[in-house]
Amino acid sequence: MHKLIINGNKELKGEISISGAKNCAVALIPAALLCDEDVTISNVPNISDVDALEEILIHLDAKIDRKNNGEVVIHSGSINNKPIDEELAKKLRASYYFMGALLGKYKHVEMSFPGGCSIGKRPIDLHLKGFKALGAKVSGDDENIILDADELTGADIYLDFASVGATINIMLAAVRAKGTTIIKNAAKEPEIPNIAEYLNAMGAKIKGAGTDIITIEGVDYLKSCTHTVLPDRIEAGTYIILGAACAKNLVVKNIVPKHIDSLLEKLKEMNVKMKIGKNSVTVKQSKRLKATEIITLVYPGFPTDLQQIMASLMTQAKGESSIDETIWENRFLNLYEMLKMGAKIEVNGSKAYITGPTKLKGTEINATDLRAGAGLVVAALLAEGTTTINNADYILRGYENIVDKLRKIGADVELV
Ligand code: UD1
Repeated sequence: MHKLIINGNKELKGEISISGAKNCAVALIPAALLCDEDVTISNVPNISDVDALEEILIHLDAKIDRKNNGEVVIHSGSINNKPIDEELAKKLRASYYFMGALLGKYKHVEMSFPGGCSIGKRPIDLHLKGFKALGAKVSGDDENIILDADELTGADIYLDFASVGATINIMLAAVRAKGTTIIKNAAKEPEIPNIAEYLNAMGAKIKGAGTDIITIEGVDYLKSCTHTVLPDRIEAGTYIILGAACAKNLVVKNIVPKHIDSLLEKLKEMNVKMKIGKNSVTVKQSKRLKATEIITLVYPGFPTDLQQIMASLMTQAKGESSIDETIWENRFLNLYEMLKMGAKIEVNGSKAYITGPTKLKGTEINATDLRAGAGLVVAALLAEGTTTINNADYILRGYENIVDKLRKIGADVELV
């Protein structure tokens, strides 16, 4: 396990360029299995979640060529549809996308349940509801899942919750089903139209991605394509919040500002001064931050993935801020670590109350999950003295070159 050692309270200024979106790349890579020809994906972030997917592709005998410039070429014409065991599947939550891709292509999947950050119960019942509606039989035990179908047939599928993973997974299986599938109450996160564009470039017929009704007309064959991963809105949001918390001047570039509109509006309410450009946001620390309230919601609401990072900024705002986490049950573990740094926080069920402004002090803390870790990096950069963040591997799952990016703007950060 790695540790991040951060000496806080330094002058931060400069530019950070945002990488390709983790949550998009982790679906695009398994989805390449649906096609028998070369698939080229560019702007793939170099993060450990992508390493874990590469291991699964190699296990299935797919050919994967990861270049230094973020381009990944996948050839899965002659893969072996072998069971994916616990060691491989548990490395990341998104291993569940192999279910949709392998079911779509081979009508058979055997794999261990997915792993990932412990931020809640993380069931996959909606994914399975979709696969069953398409004609798959679901069997297995507490550890493994087996999906089988003679053939997949298009169906109308209503999602009881607009789940990102279930929407994408059903799309993957349905592109190779016979007939038309309609996903109702589909998730609308920006990653979904990007993934649909990629599948359409392979020859799929998907309409409505990015709205709450997605229509997929099944096709027999998917062909070679090239595709670019969209910029990571959560990485962008993380660095913008960091800029608002403690930068003299920070330009966060290569982003799509409208994908983080809910964050930018909240920051304006807090009195953060920003210049919003076409592909960038320039931001600096504000001395008079006002307390605010956030409620995490599905897109275009405030993203749960930025809530833990906002918590660090809230310690600097005057008055009582609050967070109402409605998506995940266990997403406040970062707050207990921030208490050790001197933050004033109360947690009551799914709500947290943060009173500021408080001067944070460096100490030894633990990253408990990916975004908790990112929030603690912001807290450590704000704090006086040295902070050691244990279990930093969580952070490396989703932030490409975080140490280099932070050093370039003047942060004193070391990964050991
Ligand atoms: C994705 C993101 C994650 C983000 C989340 C919500 C990826 C790889 N991860 O996760 O970073 O926090 O969206 O924006 O893209 N649920 C069910 N049954 C299911 C599936 C989900 O009840 O079958 C519930 C979950 O318990 C949770 C909610 O739906 O309460 C949201 O889950 P979902 O949108 O599926 O999140 P993920 O796709 O896993």
